[in-house]
Amino acid sequence: MSQYVFLQVKEVIRETADAVTVVFMKPTVITSYKSGQFLTLLLTINGEKLRRSYSLSSSPYSDEDWAVSVKKIQGGKMSTYIVDKVKVGDIIETMAPMGIFTYEPVASNTNDVVLIGAGSGITPLYSIINSALNIEKNSKVYLIFANRNENSVMLKAGLEKLKSNYEGRFNYVNVYSQPIQPSSGSGRLDKAKVIQLLENFKTINFSKANFFVCGPQGMMDEAFEALEKFRIPQTNIRKENFTPAPHTEEKQPESAASQEAITVEIKYSKQIHKVKVAPGQTILEAALDQNIDLPYSCQSGMCTACMGKCLKGEIKMDDPDGLSANEIKQGFVLICVGRPVSSDVYIEVD
Ligand code: FES
Repeated sequence: MSQYVFLQVKEVIRETADAVTVVFMKPTVITSYKSGQFLTLLLTINGEKLRRSYSLSSSPYSDEDWAVSVKKIQGGKMSTYIVDKVKVGDIIETMAPMGIFTYEPVASNTNDVVLIGAGSGITPLYSIINSALNIEKNSKVYLIFANRNENSVMLKAGLEKLKSNYEGRFNYVNVYSQPIQPSSGSGRLDKAKVIQLLENFKTINFSKANFFVCGPQGMMDEAFEALEKFRIPQTNIRKENFTPAPHTEEKQPESAASQEAITVEIKYSKQIHKVKVAPGQTILEAALDQNIDLPYSCQSGMCTACMGKCLKGEIKMDDPDGLSANEIKQGFVLICVGRPVSSDVYIEVD
C-alpha cells in the first residue's frame, strides 16, 4: 500500500481548455490496480513539496498504460502545474494505486452498472465504465454526466467512442447547466433531474444494480436523495469525494488523555518510530512535524493512504470516511484523522 513508484509521462492529451489526460508508461514494479483507484502524485513545485490524489482514468482491462485525467482547479498548485507544464518524458513520483471506490468486473456477471458524475468526477467512473463493458459482456452500463457546457466535458471523445462501440450496452446522457446549444438539454443535476433521467433509462434493475456516484458534494447529496426514491440498498451505492472535511475543535477527543502529549509507536518500513502527539494534533500531523516519513495524501480521512492497523491502545478518529465499518471493527485506522486516547498506542502502517 505504501509503495512508491516513478512513472514516465508517455503522452499528454488535451481534454478541455483546463484539463488534460496524462498517460504514463506502464510501470514494472507495480503492475496492477483496480478500476476506480487513484494515484497520489508527489511533485516539488516552486520549492514546495506537494502531494495530491488523482483518479486513474485508464482501465486495467483495456489499457496497456496508466493514465490520470486532471482538471485545473482555481488556486490549485498541483493541478495547474500538471495541466500547464507536464510534458512527455517527465518522471513523476507517485504512491501505489489506492482507494476503495472500485469495481472488479466478473466475466460471467449480468449486471447493471449505473454511474452518476459531474466534472472531473468522471475520471474513476470512466475506468469503471471501460472495465465493465470490456469484461462483462452481458452487463449494461448507464451514465449520467453533468457539466457546465459541451466544451467542458472531460474524456468526451472516449465516451462517444464507447457509445458507438457498445451500442445498446452503454447508455449515456449529458446534462449541461449552461449549454451552448439550446438543444443539448439543460438544467442543474438536482434530485428531480436524477430521478427523471434514471426513469428514462427504463431498463435498469434497481434492486440489483451497482451505483457509483462521484462529483462535488452538492451533486452527490442530490443524487443520494434521488436514489432513496428507488429504495436502493446502501450496500449497492459507492461514492467518491476528495473534498476535505472541515476540521473543527469540537471533533477532538475530550478525554483526559488528550490534554497532554502522548507518545505513539508506529511501525513503518520495518522501523519503529516514536511519535509524540501534542494535544490537538493528529498522529500524522505530529509525525510530519517530527520529520517522520509516513505515507499520506488527502490528510482528511478519505483516501486511505495513511491506513494502519492499531494493534494496541485506543485511537479516536475524526472523520474515518475512507474506512468501512468492517475495517474499523478489525482495528484499521487512518492516522491523518486519528488521535491517541490511551498512552499505549501501537500502530503498524504497511
Ligand atoms: S491521508 Fe488520506 S486518509 Fe489519511
